[in-house]
Amino acid sequence: MIDLSVDIAGVRLANPLVTASGTCGYADEYADLLDLRQLGGFFTKSITQKPRQGNEYPRIVETRAGMLNAIGLANIGLEAFVRDKAPLLRQLGIPVFVNVAGVQIEDYVAVAGRLDELDAVRGIELNISCPNVKEGGIQFGTDATQVHKIVSAVRAVCRKNVLVVKLSPNVTDITVTARAAVEAGADALSMINTFTAMAIDIESRRPILANRTGGLSGPAIRPIAVYMVHRVYTQVAKAAGVPIIGMGGIQFAHDAIEFLLAGATGLAVGTALFIDPGGVLGIRDGIADYLRRHGHTSIKEIIGTLQT
Ligand SMILES: Cc1cc2nc3c(=O)[nH]c(=O)nc-3n(C[C@H](O)[C@H](O)[C@H](O)COP(=O)(O)O)c2cc1C
Repeated sequence: MIDLSVDIAGVRLANPLVTASGTCGYADEYADLLDLRQLGGFFTKSITQKPRQGNEYPRIVETRAGMLNAIGLANIGLEAFVRDKAPLLRQLGIPVFVNVAGVQIEDYVAVAGRLDELDAVRGIELNISCPNVKEGGIQFGTDATQVHKIVSAVRAVCRKNVLVVKLSPNVTDITVTARAAVEAGADALSMINTFTAMAIDIESRRPILANRTGGLSGPAIRPIAVYMVHRVYTQVAKAAGVPIIGMGGIQFAHDAIEFLLAGATGLAVGTALFIDPGGVLGIRDGIADYLRRHGHTSIKEIIGTLQT
């Protein structure tokens, strides 16, 4: 019997696979497409204090090896989430992490504080890395001083919940912001969010997305994500005992195993869910096959074992 369970700062996941924030709504939208109970955990889309309409359409465009999105944090807002979605999430039976976004630090603190009161929630994921909003978002995630400030403030109201900080890849050196998050009290890091990018309609000579730019995700970013996970694992996270939830283009078991070897403990799948929602269970089974083939009995035996 292969043990696929992992530990994210005290939260046990039956297997490392979770949903990447924003790609699986609040869970009920996917009920007919994928048995979410088979996953290790569920990450909601970003929640802000007030409801948000998000950006103008078009806000998604496919690229050759991925997609660009500029959703702009469209969501139902904190109170509707607490009233309508949290009770359903409680019934899921797997650990639920709520992704939190905002414009000012006070917004993040208010949302995180309220979520800490809910039984349905085991952790929050701090989205300080959204490239698709004009205020807040990525501004917090690209400056180490800001990262430290916001993580410290949220840490103070996050008593019960595990605090996961989601890092932006749109920086010169991701270990600097990772270190700031860990020093300010992050229990875990998730990485990476999308890369700011653009697609152009060559006939009209205009950007395709109404927001002009969007965040690039999917297979195109995977090798960069693997590299970043490895750097953060070896230079920051391993010594601090802080687990990493890796993501960026995971579509097949092979991709997931790369992230595990690079140092990720958890694995989030996002863009690939749009192609084949059930494929995530194939990834889980493929990891078990790999472990069996290499004579391992537990997934923990391979995390961070990249030979360099
Ligand atoms: C349509 C879409 C919406 C997303 N919305 C969010 C979001 O609300 N909050 C967030 O932190 N990340 C969001 N992301 C980023 C993903 O969680 C993930 O970090 C990124 O897409 C890389 O993983 P992937 O290549 O497997 O999609 C979104 C990504 C996509 C494609």
